[in-house]
Amino acid sequence: MNWNEIYQTAIEWTEQAGEILRAATKEILQVEYKTSAADLVTNKDKQIEQFFMDRLSEKYPSHFLLGEEGLAKDKQFNPENEIVWIVDPIDGTTNFVHQKRNFAISVGIYEKGEPRVGIVYDPIAKEMFHAQIGTGAFLNNQLLPNLDEKSLEEANISINQLWLVPNDKVDHTIFTEVIQKARGTRYLGSAALEIAYVACGRLDTYIDFRLSPWDIAGGMVILQEVQGVMKNLENNSFSVFNPGITIFSNSNVLEEILLNSKKD
Ligand code: IPD
Ligand code: CA
Ligand code: CA
Ligand code: CA
Repeated sequence: MNWNEIYQTAIEWTEQAGEILRAATKEILQVEYKTSAADLVTNKDKQIEQFFMDRLSEKYPSHFLLGEEGLAKDKQFNPENEIVWIVDPIDGTTNFVHQKRNFAISVGIYEKGEPRVGIVYDPIAKEMFHAQIGTGAFLNNQLLPNLDEKSLEEANISINQLWLVPNDKVDHTIFTEVIQKARGTRYLGSAALEIAYVACGRLDTYIDFRLSPWDIAGGMVILQEVQGVMKNLENNSFSVFNPGITIFSNSNVLEEILLNSKKD
């Protein structure tokens, strides 16, 4: 398997897909609700997933696609046994529709469940975060340094405010102390970008409770390459295919978060 070639090809395709989305910000979008008015999908989400599917079946017909919009869902496969491209065609669809910025294309390529390549591309900022396992992570052509030591009081934490008010998923008070001690809180609305931002130090931690493989597959490879950590509340590693409660973080900050969070 020529992983360098696969890596370069994935970057090239993602860049091309990004051009389509940049142009789309000037077009009229077809917006539909999926499960609710807070869960949008556009014709461009579907077009970009189709774009990856067409190219994959032509160049790498033995590879599988796991995409949010489920275009390849009839093709049976076991992600633990195959090479799979885990693609979020637009991560941050709400931002794409409302802001026309702060969204990304996320691609993670995994072989028998092991991470190989990760890409998170913000086509508006023209920022390509990318990594091949074992060879470092990059922002465009710049190698990203390993994350610095940091304390919680110096940390900028990204968390969706929804998890800090009563909700049906988690005890909304688990991170009260963490939020009080942190330097600042942010929420961008694109999990893939938020993980990439932890990898380049713009954020120090990103916490979420309801993510899917396509939200995190690309970012996980990038964060791993700068010695970032990915754990759940019990301080255990999690699989890209089954994330649960997830903390993507600078490692010193994670230790303090786990000490300051409420676990019962
Ligand atoms: C969503 C975004 C959002 C996160 C949600 C995701 P989508 O992805 O990443 O920031 O909080 O859990 O579903 O639907 O825009 O691809
Ligand atoms: Ca979605
Ligand atoms: Ca997503
Ligand atoms: Ca999406």
